[in-house]
Amino acid sequence: MDSVLLFEEAVDASGNSYSCYSGFRVGAALLAKNGKIYKGCNIENVSYSMTICAERTAFFKAVSEGVTEFRAIAIAGSKNDDFTKPCNPCGACLQVMAEFCDDDFIIILSDGEYKLSDFLPNRFD
Ligand code: THU
Repeated sequence: MDSVLLFEEAVDASGNSYSCYSGFRVGAALLAKNGKIYKGCNIENVSYSMTICAERTAFFKAVSEGVTEFRAIAIAGSKNDDFTKPCNPCGACLQVMAEFCDDDFIIILSDGEYKLSDFLPNRFD
């Protein structure tokens, strides 16, 4: 798994971000154990709480196609096309990751690689 390439896919996915309310574009690239990459972006709504994050878009795309085993996710977020500042996954997305992934699931941000357990050490299961 090439984490630089996966991060580039996440930046690419942010190009479809629908984020007219926050102006914060997020893309995610989710690598499944079958080798396929599922990309997602954040999709906002005038009723703000209906917004969905890029990570959950990617997970739900994969799961809805019958794919439930994953190796890694790359996340890229920016207001100005500068993706150097890390975009940490929110708590809701971490909980969705925890549903499908083990503690050693890899989370790739602009500043390096993490494990799911770094962000969510004591999961509810
Ligand atoms: N957002 C994501 O897509 N992923 C994250 O990990 C954090 C936040 C989105 C939600 C909203 O559209 C925008 O970023 C600002 O919060």
